[in-house]
Amino acid sequence: MRAVVLKRFPDGIPCSDDFAVVAAPAATGGDGVRVRVRFLSLDPYLRSVMSGRHVGHSMAPGDIVPGGGVGEVVESTSLDFAPGDWVQGEFGWREDAIIPVGQVRKLPSGVAPSTALGVLGMPGLTAYAGVNDILQPGAGQTIVVSAPLGPVGSTVGQLAKRAGARVVGIAGGARKCELALSVLGFDDCIDYRSEDFVAALHRACPNRIDAYFDNVGGRVLEAALGHLNLHARVALCGLIDQYNKAERPPGPNLGPVIAARATLTGLVVYDHFHRLPAMLDELVPLVKAGELKYLEDIAQGIESTPAAFARLMRGENIGKALVAL
Ligand SMILES: NC(=O)c1ccc[n+]([C@@H]2O[C@H](COP(=O)([O-])OP(=O)(O)OC[C@H]3O[C@@H](n4cnc5c(N)ncnc54)[C@H](OP(=O)(O)O)[C@@H]3O)[C@@H](O)[C@H]2O)c1
Repeated sequence: MRAVVLKRFPDGIPCSDDFAVVAAPAATGGDGVRVRVRFLSLDPYLRSVMSGRHVGHSMAPGDIVPGGGVGEVVESTSLDFAPGDWVQGEFGWREDAIIPVGQVRKLPSGVAPSTALGVLGMPGLTAYAGVNDILQPGAGQTIVVSAPLGPVGSTVGQLAKRAGARVVGIAGGARKCELALSVLGFDDCIDYRSEDFVAALHRACPNRIDAYFDNVGGRVLEAALGHLNLHARVALCGLIDQYNKAERPPGPNLGPVIAARATLTGLVVYDHFHRLPAMLDELVPLVKAGELKYLEDIAQGIESTPAAFARLMRGENIGKALVAL
């Protein structure tokens, strides 16, 4: 059995040499379920854990990298779980794990197990809470979302669209923009790397922005704040633009927020885990029916995990970043 440990704190964008894939003794003993992990979840928040800036977790060199996964039960001391059951839990980046029964959940049937780490997992719950509580999209309103192909952004955009809104993405590159339209059904998508990005955003939102879901921060956030409608809502979810920077950059100019009488609300998914059953009741049927789409970016084998995480941190992933074991 192998695991991925942090060798040293990354300086800037992580590289493969910041990690080591090591032999780890097979998990034994203890009450709970023993799981053969099949998919590792790579999540942007892990980079802020590695820089000591995360709200909930910390880690040190030598530690197995934390994180979610899905896998198959191999042994169980509980009658609630049997060998062969698919479960999701915080296993860390390792090939097998023993975890207390209260810390794993069985996966819904009829959907791909990997969805429990994306659209039907923590990122999907983030989107569900942000759309329902903060964006509150209405028919005909203009909703804008950044990082629109990732598991959070793609779910936000599609849920807003289902509520009758006009949905505009802000993505990195023409290919990502094309996929937002053709696969996810967005109404428009702007490439923030294009020279006339701000003007293009204004053209795509002629009635200004009624609600914005921010996954990025930086100049993308500043551009969206500069084009808000009166009483706009802004969900502040992620700051991936600064996760690899040693210093926190200066904040955006908030003058337009005053002018728009807008509301900015910080979103932390940990406040919403009790709503997972309600979210699954609503979203599992949509995924089964093919009405809620998701994209996945899957690397193969535990040895590819460091490079796949570096890829995510360079923004090169298209869809939920996973490693299949
Ligand atoms: N607050 C919470 O509780 C919570 C929960 C879950 C996730 N989040 C946050 O939500 C955001 C999206 O998460 P996700 O899981 O759906 O991941 P994701 O979209 O797959 O995140 C990676 C994407 O971020 C975009 N990006 C924009 N600027 C970037 C930059 N400077 N460097 C690297 N990537 C950049 C890239 O897409 P483009 O090329 O399209 O820009 C990249 O593909 C992240 O910021 C994450 O930390 C927050």
